[in-house]
This record gives sequence, C-alpha cells and structure tokens, in this order.
Amino acid sequence: MVAVKKHMIVSGLDVGTTKVCCLIGEIGNDGNLEIIGKGIAPSHGVKKGVVVDIAETVKSIQLAAQEAERGAGFKLHSVFVGVTGEHISSINSHGVITLAHEPKEVVEDDVRRAVEAAKVVSLPAEREVIHVIPRGFTLDGQNGVKNPVGMLGMRLEVNTHIVTGMGTFLHNLTKCVETAGLEIEENGLVLEPLASSLSVLNEAEKELGILLIDIGGGTTDLAVFRNRHIFHSSVIPVGGNHVTYDLAVAFRLSPEEAERVKVSYGSAVPSQISEEDKIEVTTLSGMKESISRRQVAETIAPRMEELFALIKREIEQLPKDSSLAGVTITGGTSLLPGISDVAAEILKFPVRVGYPQPSTGTLNDAIHNPAYSTGVGLVIYGAKSLQNRRLYRRRETFLAKAFRSLFREFF
Ligand SMILES: Nc1ncnc2c1ncn2[C@@H]1O[C@H](COP(=O)(O)OP(=O)(O)OP(=O)(O)O)[C@@H](O)[C@H]1O
Ligand SMILES: [Mg+2]
Repeated sequence: MVAVKKHMIVSGLDVGTTKVCCLIGEIGNDGNLEIIGKGIAPSHGVKKGVVVDIAETVKSIQLAAQEAERGAGFKLHSVFVGVTGEHISSINSHGVITLAHEPKEVVEDDVRRAVEAAKVVSLPAEREVIHVIPRGFTLDGQNGVKNPVGMLGMRLEVNTHIVTGMGTFLHNLTKCVETAGLEIEENGLVLEPLASSLSVLNEAEKELGILLIDIGGGTTDLAVFRNRHIFHSSVIPVGGNHVTYDLAVAFRLSPEEAERVKVSYGSAVPSQISEEDKIEVTTLSGMKESISRRQVAETIAPRMEELFALIKREIEQLPKDSSLAGVTITGGTSLLPGISDVAAEILKFPVRVGYPQPSTGTLNDAIHNPAYSTGVGLVIYGAKSLQNRRLYRRRETFLAKAFRSLFREFF
C-alpha cells in the first residue's frame, strides 16, 4: 500500500464544449478524496471538444479557476487538463526488450524501456503522443503478467494502448490554459474518457469488459476496458448540443429556450410520454405556444438512436475476443430521461448511468452529477500520477544515496 503524503492537493481542468469545470481536490493520508474547490463557467470558445476561440476559452478558464480558488481559499498553480475531439486516435502497440542472457530480476527501469520500445511506432509528423498505457506484460513467453517488477526473466514484452492527438489542437489548448495563468502538470494532458473512467467505473466492470460512453455537449467519448485495462478509445463529434439544435429548428426556438425544453421536459423514448402532455414555450417571434411533449421526444429520439447506432458500429469493429459485460453512460446528456433504455435496446447490453464516485471517500453533493465525471476523474488521475512520481523520485534518491555510500566505501 502506497503511503500518501498528508493533504496532497490536485487540480483538474475540464475544458468542455458547454462548460469549463475546474476542481481542486484534497487527498488525505487515508486516500480519501475531498473536492475543496469547484468552479464552473460557460464555455463559448470550444466546438466538438476543440478550441476554436482562444480569447473566449481563456476567459472561461479564468472564471472557473477563480471560482474554484475562492472555494479552496488559495491560488491554483498547476492542473491536469482533459483532452478530447475527433482528432484523437488510438492504436495498440507491442514493445520487446532483452533483459539479459541469463535470468535477472526485472526492475522498474526495464518496464520503462519496454514501454519506450512500444512507443516506437511511425506517427505522422503532425501527431503527438498523449498516453502510452501498459495493458499487460509477457515475461519469457508467459503472458498475463500484471506487474513484472521483482520477477525473474530474460525477455520482457509489453502490450500498450497509445493515444495520440493533433499537435496543433493540443498546442491551442495548452496555450489557453497557460494564458489563463495556470501551469499544466508534467504529462498533464489526459484523455477525457480515461479520466471519466477513473471516477465512474468500478474494478469489476473494468475486469469483465465495459464500454464507457461519456456524452457531453459536443462530443461523445468512448473507452473500452477489459482485464482492468483500456484497449480502445475514440471520440464521436456528436453530443447533447445537437439535440438542442434539432429542437430549436423543429419548434422555432432560441438555443436557450430549446435547451430549457430539453433539460426540463425532454425524453429519448416518445412512448413513455402521454399524448395529452403539453408544455408552453416561447418561440423565436416571442409568441407563447403550447407544444406536445410527445413531439419533443419524437424530435430527440432519432438523434439518440443515430448516436447509439454509430456506437454499435464501433463495438462491432472491436477484436472478436473483446467481449463486453455491459455499458456505462456518463456526461451531462446521460441525464436525459430514457437514454439508457435506447442504449440498451440498440447496443443489446445492460446499461447504467455512471455518477462520479472516488474509490475511497465521499464526494460533496454538488459534484454528484455525471457532467462532472471528467473533472473528478482528472483529479483522481492527477493524484495517482503525483503519487507515482513521488514514489519514483523517492526510490531514485534512495538508489542515488545507496550508490554514493557504496562509492565512498570503495574509494
Ligand atoms: N437533465 C438533462 N437532460 C438532458 N440533457 C442534459 C441535462 N443536463 C445537461 N444536459 C446536457 O448535457 C450536455 C453537457 O454535458 P457535459 O457538461 O458533460 O458537456 P461538456 O463536457 O461541456 O462537453 P464535451 O464533453 O462534449 O466537450 C449539454 O448538451 C446539456 O444540454
Ligand atoms: Mg465533457
């Protein structure tokens, strides 16, 4: 069990299509996570997960960060930042290294070298690596090794999941965060569905096989886990904003009124709504009109069906041995009534809606919302990453000290 330094502070910044969410987390020495600062600001400079207006995005980040800082009572320095968008792509890669010509004990540096070897894939010049995630090791032909450190062997192989993004889009996002006065942590850009998975999925789901679907405003992020590791991730440029747009066009409403109608009266299953059920709306011309809730649902349903049909096509393209036990939906759009029924009907899997929940500790009620899954996940990712870094540095210092004393002894 890793000893956690008392009160580690970690911050996550989710620059979404509809909102920027900044969360400051405090991790106690018992591993308990408490969100001590939360800032939410409307996002106007991001489309389909990608920055399209730097000045607007900087403004939203500053507003969200300042609100979170006020809650926490101190100034933020560095953050872990979520990335998404259609430009993200992922591949699975394999790395092999020879450890020695006779059995030797595997050390952490061997694992690093094997992962580095897996990184040697030919990438177009405009793409940058965001993650190289080890998915399992093979030691001297024995596969299924979860952590080879301390074991004896001569040849180490690793399967990895490599996530890449377009350098220009990553640069623009980085520039917005830095212009807003924040620093990005070392290796602090994090694939959003990977972050969401940490706050929403339980270990059993990740072990048995699960598809995580984070449906936000502008994107739907997918991540598939099996044997506790991610092995597929992708981003579909469709989200809840498209539903709002459809309602605005169908009933001649402003985007704000369409959003209100969707959030307050929407459903993805028309048959669950009575034909008699009417609501009053204000149309673009300023007139009050009575419209049928059944018709609202009939406008929403085809967009949701289309989205899950696209997701089904992705599932069908997964390798044959990657069977799934279920589907977990999260993100703001997962709050749409009936969405899990549509997902279960089309995907033919048990479906649940996932709320952010750290493995230890409880979350403040104000964070208990699927729209914050990525934000909370970024804090959890950050905490793990800082812990590993500290542990590695401590070990390095220990080794350096041991080496120095050995050196003194001999010379
Ligand atoms: N109760 C609700 N019913 C239906 N839709 C909802 C509800 N609450 C929020 N939404 C929708 O959720 C979407 C926003 O979700 P979320 O906050 O996860 O997106 P985001 O992170 O800003 O965007 P993205 O991840 O696509 O970049 C909006 O389209 C909003 O209309
Ligand atoms: Mg999001």
